Amino acid sequence: METVLPAFDAAYWQARYVAGRDGWDTREVTPPLRAYFDQLTGHQQPRILIPGAGRAYEAEYLHQLGFREVFVVDLAPEALAALATRVPDFPAEHLLEADFFALSNAQPYDLIVEQTFFCALNPALRPAYAQQCAQLLVPGGTLMGVLFDTDFGPGQEPPFGGSKEEYRNYFAPYFDFRHFDTATNSLRPRQGRELFICLKRRPGPDA
Ligand SMILES: C[S@@+](CC[C@H](N)C(=O)[O-])C[C@H]1O[C@@H](n2cnc3c(N)ncnc32)[C@H](O)[C@@H]1O
Repeated sequence: METVLPAFDAAYWQARYVAGRDGWDTREVTPPLRAYFDQLTGHQQPRILIPGAGRAYEAEYLHQLGFREVFVVDLAPEALAALATRVPDFPAEHLLEADFFALSNAQPYDLIVEQTFFCALNPALRPAYAQQCAQLLVPGGTLMGVLFDTDFGPGQEPPFGGSKEEYRNYFAPYFDFRHFDTATNSLRPRQGRELFICLKRRPGPDA
């Protein structure tokens, strides 16, 4: 019989933060993302979105590097409040307490950063995740980050695992694959179990 998963809504995620059931939280920017951010160059201010950002150490790091068009979206107020407390000069209007899937593409982004958001979603939403990322990016924009390439077993709760072969199908309709391989600089518990991805939004109206 097919298992029907519950909704992982704002109340669910807020309760996990409040209860301290936040084993995904690394307390600092992770090495694969830090290394990518360190090589971002240019004088422009790219519009950067971090969906399901949680306590958003990546946003804090980008802010420290001088990036000023960084937006985080999360359902859980606790997560956004943690960033606001740590980084008081992070623009309040860039803290989006909202559903990623309801974001408008009126002002598309140049870069979307993924880390443990995809694995937190009901797997049925994976095609919609790829499509929404494509819709939110400018043509030529980048979706980068890490995706678990491992089997977490038949759990009823996030994280949900998967494989490189599975994921490729979701992104292929919209993206060119610049990098889609096992990360070489993961945190120790994640070593060999996550892909580093860097995908370029293909021009075209197909999202
Ligand atoms: C496993 S946590 C990861 C948090 C963060 N990326 C990290 O690595 O610490 C997943 C996050 O996604 C958020 N989330 C889940 N579904 C969401 C949705 N539809 N829209 C926005 N945020 C969502 C949760 O509130 C939670 O903060």
